[in-house]
Amino acid sequence: MQFNRKHLITLEELTADEIGLILDTAGSFKEVLERPIKKVPALRGTTICNLFYEPSTRTRLSFELAEKRLSADTINFSKATSSVTKGESLRDTAENIEAMKVDIVVMRHGSSGAHKFLSQYLDVSIVNAGDGQHAHPTQALLDMLTLKQRWGTLEGKRVTIIGDIMHSRVARSNIWGLTKMGAEVTVCGPPTMMPPEVENLGVGGIKVEYDLRKAVEGADALNILRVQLERQKNRLFPSMQEYCEIFGVTDEALDAAPLECIVMHPGPMNRGVEISQEVADGDRSVILEQVTNGVAVRMAVLFLIAGGKIDESELQ
Ligand code: CP
Repeated sequence: MQFNRKHLITLEELTADEIGLILDTAGSFKEVLERPIKKVPALRGTTICNLFYEPSTRTRLSFELAEKRLSADTINFSKATSSVTKGESLRDTAENIEAMKVDIVVMRHGSSGAHKFLSQYLDVSIVNAGDGQHAHPTQALLDMLTLKQRWGTLEGKRVTIIGDIMHSRVARSNIWGLTKMGAEVTVCGPPTMMPPEVENLGVGGIKVEYDLRKAVEGADALNILRVQLERQKNRLFPSMQEYCEIFGVTDEALDAAPLECIVMHPGPMNRGVEISQEVADGDRSVILEQVTNGVAVRMAVLFLIAGGKIDESELQ
């Protein structure tokens, strides 16, 4: 199967087959990353600009590492040291980068829809590394790869996403990706952090649960989200302590989950708020496995967007 997309902006616009192709391709790249020499020539001659308007540790570093592992040429932009501080607009900045003959722009931006907006003006491929509270497709893909490697399939599996759903691009992308792949999604969090009509998101809708104990019962995986104070105009719960007591995932809260239920978190974590120290570092945690899978998934996305087809000779 050929991946015929020029951009990766949301998972909502991809088919289940396209998501499956990305995950399978990431599986091949994961094998490359386990070799002593973790580099292939697949994107030699391709130039990629990492355009980060918001802070990032995992996404920025893993995109950059993925690009280097694929032998692409990379340039990095950060808002604080750019001419954005002198008032340059997003469109002008991006058009100037395109004028330098870049092939792919990987962008994180604080405004939902920034990538869609730019795609109207640029000829280069755009990969979404997170836009506002809208979408974070490569995070959801690496989450799905982590689950698929555990279970072999996502079909019929039950994933509960817990926390600040309203402000979470990770939640939205996971809901779209997981439901397209046949998983059942439940969201759980304070009513003040639930977006309107959340139950209608995804393919065929999702379940909403406000009681943490009920939300974890029967779950195959929990994906725990950070409380995004930076995106809240007004505090949406009385205190961190109260949030932790009602929605914090602790060993005690996990007692209600099946023994084989695994724990995920996209990072960065607020230890002691949405997740306890013991759960974050416990036997059920796959949080660092998610980070490892981030490099393989981003290699797959860049490779497919650049028009690549998996040919074992390219992986030598
Ligand atoms: N999960 C995630 O997007 O982390 P960063 O903000 O560190 O990239």
